[in-house]
Order: sequence, then structure tokens, then C-alpha cells
Amino acid sequence: MNEKLNAVKAELEKELAAVENAADLENIRVAYLGKKGSITELLKGMKDLSVEEKKDFGQKVNILKGEATDKIAEKMQELKQKEIEKEINSMPEFDLSVPANLERGSYHPVTLVQRECERIFKSMGFNVEDYSEVVTDYECFEALNIPKHHPARDMQDTYYLENGQLLKSHTSAAQNAIYKKYKDDLINEGKPIKAIFPGRCFRNEATDACHENTFFQMEGVMVDKDISISNLIFFMKSMLSEVFKRDVKVRLRPGFFPFVEPGFELDISCAICGGEGCPSCKHSGWLELCPCGMIHPEVLKAGGIDPEEYTGFAFGLGLTRLVMMKYGVKDIRDLNGGSLKALSQFTDDE
Ligand code: PHE
Repeated sequence: MNEKLNAVKAELEKELAAVENAADLENIRVAYLGKKGSITELLKGMKDLSVEEKKDFGQKVNILKGEATDKIAEKMQELKQKEIEKEINSMPEFDLSVPANLERGSYHPVTLVQRECERIFKSMGFNVEDYSEVVTDYECFEALNIPKHHPARDMQDTYYLENGQLLKSHTSAAQNAIYKKYKDDLINEGKPIKAIFPGRCFRNEATDACHENTFFQMEGVMVDKDISISNLIFFMKSMLSEVFKRDVKVRLRPGFFPFVEPGFELDISCAICGGEGCPSCKHSGWLELCPCGMIHPEVLKAGGIDPEEYTGFAFGLGLTRLVMMKYGVKDIRDLNGGSLKALSQFTDDE
């Protein structure tokens, strides 16, 4: 029996020295310590021994059993550690100090044109204002002489939020706040209100080459004593010739907006087809670029300004349209598509 025990012990040591992975080690464990394992068999074989022998041999087998259990557990630990090291060594090497291999980004064409317009208007003494995209019904409509249920609201298919606020459907939504912000300077110090406020606008539109549900406008207002339509035309023409770096062809048509009186549509000749007619200009040769007009007395009043004493003009420049004209973008959807390949073609030409 003792020989058998020594043989099992020697065999186990040989196998443990050769084993290379956890699955094989588990097989070894079962082969020695399992129900039918060779160490378990040694214990079972004791039944034929004398009481004395049983005591002596039993002790030896139990020691072997304990040693085998410990050695297998130790080996398991060792193999697991080796597997972790192997995995770590097989990972690609990273050097965190190497600069990222990214191409330099570019400005969105709307940003480029917006900045250019801001620069031009600033040079003519206008302040640039920022305004939120979520506004109240009062700001977007009521303060602009468009009461609730007025049919003029149908001109702008608006996204309403559950709390009654809405996504601004035009930059005119900031007019009231601007008048209130600057009226004291106007009334007390005689400083004209001259402000532009670019911003993103939202309307529920069926999209096509020239309509998008998200687009940019740039609103401008000027209020002072004796402001007239001539002032409006002067500022618009100066700005557009600067943007296009040439004298652009414009035309004024009457246009209706409840917050201006009289109101106009300022069109520029389509730069994509040169006035011949194409899908971008709805085959008319003209692009509606800038609705404008003299600020309605009710709108001035809502902003705390006396319309008997002061007059002003307002315009809502279609920034997105202007970008299409300037860069010859045929489809408005390309601007919101997020294609870096398309958008990265525009670079700051300043
Ligand atoms: N807010 C108008 C629109 O988006 C445009 C506009 C602005 C008209 C200012 C007149 C004066 O339809």
C-alpha cells in the first residue's frame, strides 16, 4: 500500500510540474481528489487493512490529500496570474504622450457668415446680443402684435413645449427684451438702440432644397428719433455688398408681418443660377433673404418706448439663406446633415 501511495504522490508531482492551463489543472484535481480519484481510492482501499495499519496508512493518505489540495490551489493561483500577465502583454502599447492623430476641425459655414455679419454690423455701431432658443408665447408672438388665435400665427408652424413655452420660430422673439434692455439709455441719454441678434430658429416644415425645420436668422433693430425706410435700405445694402464683396442686386416688395408697418420682403438675385431660375430659388431667379420694415407702434409700446417720439426699423436676415447664396450651396439640408466631408470645405477666409 505504501508503494502505491508513493507512486500516486510521485505521479501527482510530475503532472503538476507539467500542467500549463487552468482547465488541465481542474482535470488533475478530479483525477486525484474526485469521487473516483486515485487518492480517494487509496482511502477506500484501507478497508482490508488491520486496525494498526489503518491508523498509520490513513494518516499518510490524509497528509497526502491535504498536500495535494494545497498544491493544486497554489498551482491554480500561479496559472491564473500567468494568464493575466499574458493578456496584459498581448495588449497593444499606448503612449499617452503622443498627440492625437486628428485633423483640424473647421468652422460651420453658418458660423463663418454669422461672424462676418457681426463684424460688419459692429463696425456700423450695432451691439451683438445673444438670446435663448426656448421663449415664451408673449415674446414670440404677443409682444410682436400677434395676439392669441390671430391668423398670422399660421405663418409659422411652431413647436410648443408641454409647459407652454416654445422653440423660437424667429429671432424677432428677442425684440421685446432688447427694447426693454436699452430703452432707458435711449430715453434718458438719447443713445439710439442698435442691436443685432443672430440665432437658431425652429419651424415644423416639410423639408426640401430650400426649407429646413432648423435654420438661422439674424435679427437687427434700430430705434431712434426720425428713423426712416431710407436708413433701413442703407444698412441692408451696405451689409450685403460687404458680405458678397460686390454690389448685389436687391429688390423690395411689400410684405406682411404684424410687427412692422410698412413691411417689406427684401430679395436678392439668386447667385446659384444668376437669376435664371433653379430649385433653390423656386425657379423665380430671386431669393427671399430679408423680411424687414418699420417697427409697428404697438411693438415699440410693448417694449416701453413711445411710438409718438421714436421710430425704428427691424429686419430678419435669413442667415442660412445667405450662406447658401454666398457659397453656392444648392440644398439647405446639406448644412444640417453633419457631413464633415461637406462642411470641412469651408474655411475662414478672413
Ligand atoms: N420674423 C420674421 C420671420 O421670420 C421676419 C421679420 C423680421 C420681418 C423683422 C420683419 C421684421 O418671418
